[in-house]
Amino acid sequence: MSHIVTHVGNPAGMPTQNKYQNVVITGASSGIGEALAKHYAQSGAQLGLIARRSDLLLRLQNEVVALGAPTARVYALDVRDREALKTAANDFIAKSGTPDIVIANAGVSRGTLTEIEDDLSAFQEVFDINVMGTVNTFHAFLGAMQTAKNGTLVGIASVAGFRGIPGSSAYSSSKAAAIKYCESLRVELRGSGLSVVTICPGYIRTPMTAVNTFKMPFLIDADDAAARFARAIQAKTSFTVIPWNMGIAARVLRLVPNWLYDRVFSHMPRKPR
Ligand SMILES: NC(=O)c1ccc[n+]([C@@H]2O[C@H](COP(=O)([O-])OP(=O)(O)OC[C@H]3O[C@@H](n4cnc5c(N)ncnc54)[C@H](OP(=O)(O)O)[C@@H]3O)[C@@H](O)[C@H]2O)c1
Repeated sequence: MSHIVTHVGNPAGMPTQNKYQNVVITGASSGIGEALAKHYAQSGAQLGLIARRSDLLLRLQNEVVALGAPTARVYALDVRDREALKTAANDFIAKSGTPDIVIANAGVSRGTLTEIEDDLSAFQEVFDINVMGTVNTFHAFLGAMQTAKNGTLVGIASVAGFRGIPGSSAYSSSKAAAIKYCESLRVELRGSGLSVVTICPGYIRTPMTAVNTFKMPFLIDADDAAARFARAIQAKTSFTVIPWNMGIAARVLRLVPNWLYDRVFSHMPRKPR
């Protein structure tokens, strides 16, 4: 995987520490991550944009600078690659300063069935990206943020982590793990000056959900989602479901006894494999 490091909007390449809000976003090439990048660009943040597809990142780089980001550094890498993430983090910190916000948003969703051997590699991929990718992302920036005694780590989990979703066992369990991982980290960092925000999106209109053939309740657009996420991040909300009405539905679902949950959800439409 190529690893490119470029920036625009600050041609001299001078460090610009402490002048702007610094925001790093993984999974920035598409969907929610792209919408978050545009949202923070409009508020004048310096951006670090991470994903694998460099062509999409380079296009976004120009867009966010046009929207008001003083700098946008792009790092084409795979969040499973710890070394590439560390190199990117060191570069970002050296040139833009320690991040105020790191959003571990990169994620994949696959329909999976345990009995199908080919799906085992999909399980591995989903766990590695959705869980270890989040750990790798936070690890790369955490030391500098602890030294600065400042910053917010944001984990993008999912309401799919509330209960086991049939047909999405890998995704659902990876997001449950992400929720608990972020909670552990939040408590570990209590009193350090750092915050951990866990966001569980409901259904957001992005390429990830475009393949769903079933009706998605409380579906919202990615731009709307990004604005709501940013408000939760600004408020350092420890845990939230967005949109709020999906939050109520998800909490009710948690209270439903297994016999009823199993009966209803065994008939639900499933993510295509
Ligand atoms: N959309 C929803 O309804 C919804 C609901 C709940 C939770 N979420 C979560 O929200 C996050 C964003 O999803 P989305 O809907 O915006 O999906 P999306 O449009 O498919 O975007 C996923 C992003 O993750 C990046 N990514 C995937 N694997 C990666 C890897 N190994 N290394 C680096 N980047 C990687 C992709 O970029 P590259 O392919 O270029 O690497 C892309 O930018 C995910 O964590 C997802 O699980 C979404």
